[in-house]
Parts: sequence; structure tokens; C-alpha cells
Amino acid sequence: MAVRLKSLDIVVNAKSFTDFDIKTDLIVMFIAEDLKMDKNESMLNDSFDKNISLALKNESFSAEPGKTILLHTYGKIKADKVLITGLGDVKKIDCETLRKASSEAYKAINKKSTRNITILLPENDKLLKRFTVFDLTKSICEGFMLSSYEISLKTNTDKLDSMKIEIATGSRKNLQTIKEAIHYAQISSEGVFVARDLSTLPPNIATPEYLAKSAISIAGESKLKVTILGREQIEELKMGAFLSVARASAREPQFIIMEHLPENSENLKTVVLIGKGITFDTGGYSMKPAASMIGMKYDMAGGAAVIGVMRAISNLKIPVNVIGIVPACENMINGEGYLPEDVVTASNGMTIEINSTDAEGRMLLADAMIYAKKYNPDAVIDIATLTGLCAQAFAGVASGLFANDDILKNRLLNAARITDERLWHLPMYDEFGECLKSEIADTKNSGKGGIGSATMFLKKFADFQAWAHIDMAGLASDDRRSYNKKGIGSGYGVRLLLELVRQYT
Ligand code: BES
Ligand code: MG
Ligand code: ZN
Repeated sequence: MAVRLKSLDIVVNAKSFTDFDIKTDLIVMFIAEDLKMDKNESMLNDSFDKNISLALKNESFSAEPGKTILLHTYGKIKADKVLITGLGDVKKIDCETLRKASSEAYKAINKKSTRNITILLPENDKLLKRFTVFDLTKSICEGFMLSSYEISLKTNTDKLDSMKIEIATGSRKNLQTIKEAIHYAQISSEGVFVARDLSTLPPNIATPEYLAKSAISIAGESKLKVTILGREQIEELKMGAFLSVARASAREPQFIIMEHLPENSENLKTVVLIGKGITFDTGGYSMKPAASMIGMKYDMAGGAAVIGVMRAISNLKIPVNVIGIVPACENMINGEGYLPEDVVTASNGMTIEINSTDAEGRMLLADAMIYAKKYNPDAVIDIATLTGLCAQAFAGVASGLFANDDILKNRLLNAARITDERLWHLPMYDEFGECLKSEIADTKNSGKGGIGSATMFLKKFADFQAWAHIDMAGLASDDRRSYNKKGIGSGYGVRLLLELVRQYT
């Protein structure tokens, strides 16, 4: 049904300097503002009669990040074209600059005439002082891979051929590291693609059952254990908070559990990742105005990120026990729907007075967190498109991060810095939770208590040493970044959570 339009096939090959007259459709080379070339690039320049340095001078190339010049070689060297791509000020280059530059390079390439591409790894001393070879390679590959993603349900789209990309290095000793970095970038990007697929697909396709089936097929390919609980089992577990949201939907709720338990599991740390899986949020009886409903197909983007990252974690064989939990349902209305002022009971026995049926995400997360207790986890992270307040406050630029533990918080901030999947730390003031006091039940599900009030509700169910809540409202789609696209899920969270989990090895 859904058509993924393109796949990139990246292979690595070592080339020594003398090999640099390479038969390929196009060579990509990167250059910083100082226009200094490394040994390989100089070799290429020499064999190309100094056309590269001449072009840089004549075009007064500013080397801004992502600016490109395309040179035709007219048979002077074996490669047909050379694409020079700017990296900007060396002192400011970070992983995101590399991703952006390679993304812009990818976009500048004529996809019809170019099948084979060779990327010269920029290996000058200044860059290698700032980056490990692993991070350098990984970021450049991610820029290419992430930009190549296309999906369409249009009837007239052709599937394009795949491109072959070769990474060339001047130093054979780095070959193994480069291969590992390419492997990592490929798998993490494929995880992002899973999340983008699931979140981009419309709510009549990406239903709770579709999420469950995707989790099953991914688990089969990636050797994860998967368990799907349907309505009856969810009822048996007395997940009254989750069920109250799911009740008005004709589509069965699915409680998805994916388990990555590597060998030697008993001696490894355990991390639980929980993702909100509302496949459409109408608001229920506290209904959203029509205009605010647009975009609510993305209300399962947290769940999509968890499914995507579980695939990546398993394929990379990361030595950490990781459990992915996605409670999935629709927030709808019918005669059985939950009402404002209902009192429902979560699976730990806690009673919840419903203040708004539109505050549904936290209801699912509550039962999911209670369930997560049984894994006795070292850390629990939930990720959810949870509040309009966060979406407005950060305007899709960053997620809100709440945490009850400084180590986990700092690990997440570190992962955010590496991936540029931004997080901004917010406080958990007790005052944010005051609006949740109920006369009749243990708690209300919502209130006007400020940006942390949803978190203060979750905190009542987060009985863990180390727990963090990521409110990714506003980040499920993004057209600001060169490797994301308008109208397509961003896959936000996959790379972030992957970097986080790696820190538990
Ligand atoms: N899914 C929404 C949050 C959301 C809003 C995500 C905008 C992305 C963009 C969530 O379920 C919701 O409706 N939250 C309400 C809670 C309120 C009723 C307490 C909100 O933030 O308005
Ligand atoms: Mg809602
Ligand atoms: Zn929602």
C-alpha cells in the first residue's frame, strides 16, 4: 500500500591516494570556510588540473554549510562530476552541520543521471580534532540516508532505482571504524524510516492493529520478542485508564510490548521505553475544534519512535535489556465513550476523575508505567505528543524534558546534543500538580496547572528511581531541517533514544 520510493545502498571501500582517480558518476567532497584541502582532496585536485581550487577561487565560494558547486569533468578524470559542499566555519562544525551539509549535497545531485556516488571523507587535521572518525562518518551518512526517504500514496509514483554510495578514505587504518559507522547510520536511519512510515500513514491505515502488526513483523525480522495484548487481556490486567480512552473506538486497542533481551541478560542494565500510541485524537467528548484535529494522526509519533528504535537496538545488538511498550488506541466518541466527570480506576487501583477526555495520552501512559514496574528497570523513559502547551512553547524546535534523576537527565541531554533531537529541561514544581486535586477521586487527569501539570499527573504513576518524560508535541513532523520533509513524519526520537540506550552499556 505505502510506497517507499527509494533505498540507498551504501558500501565502503578504502582508496589510497593514488586510487583517487575513481570511476564514478559523481564525487562529493566537503570543504570548510578556510578552503583547505586534505591529502586526498589535493590528489583529486591535482589529477583534475587544479580545477577544484580554481573553481573555489573563481566562484568566490563562501563554503557556507550546505552550499554546493557542481563541476563537470569532461573526461579530464574518470569521475563525471565533482560536487563541492561547504561546511562553514571549522570552529562551529558539529554533527548536525555534517548531516545538513551531506543532506544538501544529496539534494543537489541529479537523481536521474547519477547512480554511483563516491563521498570523500573530509580528513583534515582540524576536523579530526573535533570529531572521531566514527562520528564524522556516521553524521555524513545520516545526512544522505535521512534525506533519501520518500513515501507516497499517490497512484502515479514510480519507484526509483537505488543509488550506490561508496565512502572513500585515505587511511586504511580507519576502515573498520568507518564500516561500523556506516552500519550504525544505516540501521539508525532505517529505524527513523519505520517511525516516519507509521506516523505519516493516515489514521485509516495506521490503526492500532496496524501498529501491532508492524511491531510483529519487525520483531520477526529483528529477533525481538513481541507480545500484543488485545481488549480482553487489557481488561484482565484492569488497565481502566487506558481502556476508558479506548472504549469509544470501533478499533480494538492494542498494548504492544517489544523485548530486546541480549545474551547474558541478567548482568545487563534494563531500560524501558514507553511511547504514546494514539492513532487519532479527536479529543473525545472534550472534542477538539476541527482545525486543531488536523495533525492528530501524528498522536502516535512517540509510539512510532519506540517501535523504530527497538528495531535499531536489536539490529545493532546493543548489550542492554530494552523493553518497548506502546499502548495504542484511538480517542473517539460513541455511546460508550468516557465522559468528563467519569471516575475510572487505573491498574494500580488509583482512581482518576476525568476533567478532560482530551487529556488522554497520560491515561495510557499511566497504565503502561504501572505495567513497566515488573521489569524492575534501571531507567524508564516515556515519549509522547502530550500537550499543546509544549507544542506552543517550543514551536516544534525542541521537546520538553522532565526527569526525576540527574544521571538520566544528563544522558538524555547528551544524546540530544549528539543527534540534535533537541530537549529542553523543565522543572517538576509541586505547584504544577495542585490543579489535579480531586474532591471525589485520588486525582484529576488534567487541569490548568501550567506546562508541567501533565507531567505531575504522570509522576503519580512513575514509581521508578530514574524516570524521564519527553513531551514531543510539535516535533512529529518538521520541514525546517534539510533532511526532513513537509507533510512527512520526522521520525523524531529514534536517534535520540538510540544514543541514550547506548549509554547503558
Ligand atoms: N495530542 C494532544 C497534544 C497535542 C496538541 C499534540 C497539539 C500536538 C499538537 C493531547 O492529547 C491533548 O489534547 N492535550 C490537551 C490536554 C488538555 C486538555 C489538558 C492540550 O494540551 O490541549
Ligand atoms: Mg488529546
Ligand atoms: Zn493526544
